[in-house]
Amino acid sequence: MLDILVGGFYGDEGKGKVASYLAVKDKPAMAVRTGSINAGHTAVYNGKEYKLRSVPSAFISPNTRLIIPPGALIKREVLFKEIEETGTRNRISIDSHTAVITDAEAAEEKNNAHLSNEVGSTKQGVGAAESKRILRSLKLAKDYHELSSFITNVPDEVIKCAEDGGKIQVEGSQGHLLSLYHGTYPYVTSRNTTSSGILSDVGIGPKYVANIIVIFKAFITRVGSGPLEGELSPTEVEELGYSEFGTVTGRQRRVALFDSKLAKEVVRINSANQVAITKIDTVFNGAKGVRDYSKLPQEARVWIEDVEQQIGVPITLLGTGPEAEDMIDRRAQLLK
Ligand code: GTP
Ligand code: MG
Repeated sequence: MLDILVGGFYGDEGKGKVASYLAVKDKPAMAVRTGSINAGHTAVYNGKEYKLRSVPSAFISPNTRLIIPPGALIKREVLFKEIEETGTRNRISIDSHTAVITDAEAAEEKNNAHLSNEVGSTKQGVGAAESKRILRSLKLAKDYHELSSFITNVPDEVIKCAEDGGKIQVEGSQGHLLSLYHGTYPYVTSRNTTSSGILSDVGIGPKYVANIIVIFKAFITRVGSGPLEGELSPTEVEELGYSEFGTVTGRQRRVALFDSKLAKEVVRINSANQVAITKIDTVFNGAKGVRDYSKLPQEARVWIEDVEQQIGVPITLLGTGPEAEDMIDRRAQLLK
């Protein structure tokens, strides 16, 4: 059965953190990383930080098989470096139809004034490669000899695993509001980042989906250009202690306060049955490292229950620090 993790805002909500927590806790049989190298996911485990652009954040669960699906795009240098860093060579597989980005596509994006100046692209070559795939001129994983030992049929393996009752974690990337279809076009990424797009990346239908978990952060951030309603000034961000920098680009993230009305709409479009909220510790004093809901400051509990009421879906997971296990897990109480 599939658990799909979706970013709820503009990315960087902490999908890497939620995925790594659920990996430690649920020990899924498989973990699938969708999207591409323009999204950096951070997993912190036993004090060590991993910044992942290809390998699923669930790699910290030692018996979980790691999967890159046909809808994803890889870059060989990035992938091989991460496989070495995570020591996962013997348990990672790639679909034969996964797209392969080369330096040529990255160079095309760097020379593209519209992407650089207008859209605020990360210029990793993802959009250029995807457009070549659509025009059927891009090479795929099966066309590269050095990938041959990793190649598998991902949809077939995922379905077999689900039919055997195995748990499969599917990690989305970026966020709902960066979706090519549902986001703030043209200030969006080059793919559909919502639950439907994530499932399409894997390449199977919805029959085996058990949970769709939308991940929000306790405040909103956005990198690059495009509208951001309620954007705070750099001084306000500094005063609140909400400053963040991009995992892939190092750019300072723009910030706005949490918006329950927006969150409700995102939950609805993604058909989510659960919500996770990270960085509770950044917003509420006394929340850092708390792993028991009753030990959260009252102010935080009041806010969480108010948001829960407004969005109408249980908030099952609450992040209280960067470490994978700094998490309050309310699934046992809230899910029947
Ligand atoms: P994208 O696909 O790029 O959107 O990535 P992402 O959603 O995985 O987020 P990313 O890792 O880029 O950024 C999240 C940052 O917040 C990282 O530095 C995490 O270590 C950190 N983080 C995640 N959850 C928490 C939390 O609950 N508390 C604190 N203090 N930090 C957190
Ligand atoms: Mg990120």
